[in-house]
Amino acid sequence: METPTHIAIIMDGNGRWAKKRFLPRVAGHVRGVKRVKDSIEQCLEFNIKYLTLFAFGRDNWKRPQEEVSFLMDLLLEQINKEFTKLHDKNICVRFIGDRSRIDKSLVDRIESIEHLTQKNDKLFLSIALDYSGTYDITQAVNKIIQLSPKTAISEKDFSRYLLSYPYPSVDLFIRTGGEYRLSDFMLWDLAYSECYFTTKLWPDFDKTVFCAAMKWFNSRERRFGMISEQL
Ligand code: IPE
Ligand code: IPE
Ligand code: MG
Repeated sequence: METPTHIAIIMDGNGRWAKKRFLPRVAGHVRGVKRVKDSIEQCLEFNIKYLTLFAFGRDNWKRPQEEVSFLMDLLLEQINKEFTKLHDKNICVRFIGDRSRIDKSLVDRIESIEHLTQKNDKLFLSIALDYSGTYDITQAVNKIIQLSPKTAISEKDFSRYLLSYPYPSVDLFIRTGGEYRLSDFMLWDLAYSECYFTTKLWPDFDKTVFCAAMKWFNSRERRFGMISEQL
């Protein structure tokens, strides 16, 4: 079975999961954390090297203040709780996105976990926080013009300035929650991804759904512009 090297996931549908159960939206986020842990376990089991999870987009600041605060607190709580467990599992954790609007207490914890796990190499886990694909491309352009404003740049060199660097491009992109859009996720990195959309809500994203996505990926023929006979 061919496994993807890099999986990226838009974990969507927490609010609807809660609503269906007459619970507050945030109950869906709490339940979603369990699925984050499950997905990490699945990646370790399947020997997936890179996993990127969309935890909070730049447009998510537009949500009600209480929900935003809840999400940030939940993240801080989970980092504190999972810190050593992730390290013991030899996982290299990092966060991608704009840190300037994130609370200092959370940024401090993010930096500590990144520092602690930086040499780990079983699984490379990226959490996208205050991230968007358009922001990523823009910050890359800004870095490049600061360094050498007059030199033309190749696609390969450009990608070194993206927040996702040095992760390889995404092989399998998964979106739960029944929406068929990218919502400004990794625009550059998804250039040749196989895209798996499921109506399953993120809190229901269990091992069965993960395996279904893997099986589906395995059935795809990735041609990268060529024809079948050339592969
Ligand atoms: C995704 O679930 C979680 C985050 C954006 C943090 P939603 O909260 O978007 O859930 P729905 O789409 O409203 O059901
Ligand atoms: C995308 O989900 C962001 C995350 C999962 C973090 P949204 O639920 O915010 O996306 P839209 O608003 O439906 O496009
Ligand atoms: Mg949503």
